[in-house]
Amino acid sequence: MVYDVARVRARYPALQSGTCWLDGAAGTLSPTSVIEAVAEAYRLGTSNAGGVFASSRRADAYTEAAREAVADLVAGDPRGVVLGPNMTTLTYRLAQALADTWRPGDAVVVSRLDHDANVRPWVQWAGRAGVEVRWAEVDLETGELPVEQFADLVDARTRLVAVTAASNVLGTRPDVRAITDLAHGAGALAYVDGVHATAHGVADAAALGADFYATSAYKWDGPHVGCVVADPGLLDSLRPMKLASSDDTVPHRFEWGTPSFANYAGVAAAVDHLAGLDPEATGGRRERLVASLTAAEAYEHTLLDRLLAGLEADDRVTLYGAAKDRTATVYFTVAGSTPEQVARACADADVNVWHGHNYAWEVTAALGIRDSGSAVRASLAHYSLAEDVDRLLAVVAALP
Ligand SMILES: Cc1ncc(COP(=O)(O)O)c(C=O)c1O
Repeated sequence: MVYDVARVRARYPALQSGTCWLDGAAGTLSPTSVIEAVAEAYRLGTSNAGGVFASSRRADAYTEAAREAVADLVAGDPRGVVLGPNMTTLTYRLAQALADTWRPGDAVVVSRLDHDANVRPWVQWAGRAGVEVRWAEVDLETGELPVEQFADLVDARTRLVAVTAASNVLGTRPDVRAITDLAHGAGALAYVDGVHATAHGVADAAALGADFYATSAYKWDGPHVGCVVADPGLLDSLRPMKLASSDDTVPHRFEWGTPSFANYAGVAAAVDHLAGLDPEATGGRRERLVASLTAAEAYEHTLLDRLLAGLEADDRVTLYGAAKDRTATVYFTVAGSTPEQVARACADADVNVWHGHNYAWEVTAALGIRDSGSAVRASLAHYSLAEDVDRLLAVVAALP
C-alpha cells in the first residue's frame, strides 16, 4: 500500500496550525478520535470505579478497554497490563516490588543507552538492597549496544536486566531478544523500556522476550498514561507497597489511587487510531496494528533518509548514533551554535525540536556532550512530512 500521510494528517487538529512538529519523541499529537473519546468520558460523566451504577461501570469499562488495547498493541496479556500515570512512576513501583525479592550479593544489569527512567529506579533500589549494579556500555561511534558484553555481565547472581527497545536520542534499537535470551539463560528477568520504540514500529513483548514491557500512551498519540505489561502470574508473585484497603488482585495491586479514567478512554481510542493508519489492513486489531505500524515505519524511514542526507551534507553538523536498526530520531550538533541556539532558531521558524540530554543521562555523558548542552533532537512521526524535514534543514543551513 502507499502510505497516505495526507489522510493520516487530516485527523490531527493541531496540525492545522502550520507548526512543524519534530518533537514527537517527547510526546506526540492526538487525533480527533482520542480527543473526542476523552471529552466524551467527561461529557457523559465518569464516576469512580467499582460501583454498581452506570457511570461507575463506565469507568471500569474504560479501564478494561485500555488494558485490551495496550495488550493488542504490544502483543501482551490484558490481565497483565498495569496502568498508571507514566512509565517512570510505574517503573519505580515495579523496582520497589522486585527489589524486595533481591538479596545482598545479587546483581542487576542496566545500560548506558537507556533513558534514565529505566536506569535510576534500578540503581537506587539496588543501592538500598545491597545489590551490585553492572553497566552495559554503548559503542560511541555507532550508537550500538553490543550484545556480546551481556554474556559477561549476566551470571547466576543476576536478577534483572533492564534494557531499552530503542534509545530516545540515538534511535538505536538494540538486539533485545539476544539480550533477554542471555538474561533468561541465567535465570534473570528482563525489563524492556518500549516507551520510544512503541511509536516507531510493531511492538511485540513476547518476541522480545520482555518479562516486563513498559510504554507510555502519550508517545503514540494517546493521553498521558503509562503502561507496564507482564505475565499476570509474574505480577502475582510480587508484593508492591499498597494501601491495605485497595484491591490486592493483579493488575490492580500495582495501581495506586484513583486513576485518570477519561484518559483510559483515550488510550483505547489511540490504539484504534494506530490500527487504522493503513486503511486497507484487515483482520483483528492486532493484525491491523501490525500492518499499519509496518507501513508507518517504512514511511518514517523515507523521511529519516532525507533528514540524514541533508544533515550529512552540512560539514558543520555532527550526528550522534548510526545504528543499523534505528527509529526515525536524529540527534545532532551544529558547529558554531549551541544546541539551545539551534532549537531557538528552529522555534523562530515554528519548527519544534528538543535540545539537551532528554533524560538520556548516561549516554550523553559517555559521549562527552552532557555538560555542554548535549545536542538537538529531531524526531519524526507517522504524521510528519518531507516538508517538515526540509524546514528543519533550511533553519540549520541558515545558522551563522
Ligand atoms: C525511552 C523512554 N523511556 C522512558 C521515558 C519516560 O516515560 P514517562 O514520561 O512515561 O515516564 C521516556 C520519556 O521520554 C522515554 O523516551
